[in-house]
Amino acid sequence: MKPKIYVTRKIEDSVKEKLENYCEVTMWEKEDVPVPKEVLIEEVRKVEGLYCLLTETIDKEVIESAPDLKVISNMAVGFNNIDIEEAKKHNIIVTNTPEILTETTADLTFALLMATARRIVEAVDYIKSNQWVTWSPMQLTGRDVHGATLGIIGMGRIGSALARRAKGFNMNIIYHNRNRSLEQERELDVQYVEFEELLKTSDFICVMVPYSEETKNLISEREFRLMKDTSILVNTSRGGIVDEDALYMALTNQQIGAAGLDVFEEEPINKSNRFVSLPNVISLPHIGSASIDTRLKMEEVAAENLLRVLQNNPPIYRVV
Ligand code: GLV
Ligand code: GLV
Repeated sequence: MKPKIYVTRKIEDSVKEKLENYCEVTMWEKEDVPVPKEVLIEEVRKVEGLYCLLTETIDKEVIESAPDLKVISNMAVGFNNIDIEEAKKHNIIVTNTPEILTETTADLTFALLMATARRIVEAVDYIKSNQWVTWSPMQLTGRDVHGATLGIIGMGRIGSALARRAKGFNMNIIYHNRNRSLEQERELDVQYVEFEELLKTSDFICVMVPYSEETKNLISEREFRLMKDTSILVNTSRGGIVDEDALYMALTNQQIGAAGLDVFEEEPINKSNRFVSLPNVISLPHIGSASIDTRLKMEEVAAENLLRVLQNNPPIYRVV
């Protein structure tokens, strides 16, 4: 008998077929609506494998409802949506999809940095709202990217990929990380600095750390006070690493210059969100890894991770 699995969102047919070769697949068929928690809890009762997205909270309640569950395959690099300790307690393997999304996420991070610096979204809106009546010297002027100092907080895979892009734009790059890596410093031509120094001296600050109890509210009131009043903050990692109340205050009190945000404490947001109406903020709907090729690869790797565990083989990427 094939093992039963549950997939929490509609995925590509080719990936579903690959899963069906080995498993009996039940899938939440909707693309734009997440599975309700009651449905998820009913479905996990019956399965050995769960294929889920970062929109599903896999907490104690879900895990305790799943007596046969062997693997939780998250189609994301981040896994803060899953109660890892609880999974461990139940001997459930948790897998994720790092590496394959590194370059794509670094591309988006750099795009957001540039768009925020050069006020691209405001400029597009300027035309759409018929405000462009003449060219004038200081109209829609932003900040130079070239020659500016970029502070990268978290020099993991995505942080390093961002540094390589910034090099090509002739930025001066400093970083802070839990562990200093002399090899990376040589390879990427970046300079390690203390956290406070990074905050004080960067023109652009990119947050590139995973979400955890340690990184929750890593950037809060104190940190914003240390930043330059012209500095631009870019967050493409997770909401909650940047304290949103403190960020809102910093943006509206001119403590910092602008922000580019791809992630929020509570997602999704809509136009009633307080950041959306601020002219010095660009808000994106969590699209860091959203290229066609990368999202397809993430689906495939999440499927492969799940299949390998159910076939008693080590997954490609294991969290615990
Ligand atoms: C997306 O945010 C991911 O963690 O893959
Ligand atoms: C994530 O893949 C990271 O290490 O930055």
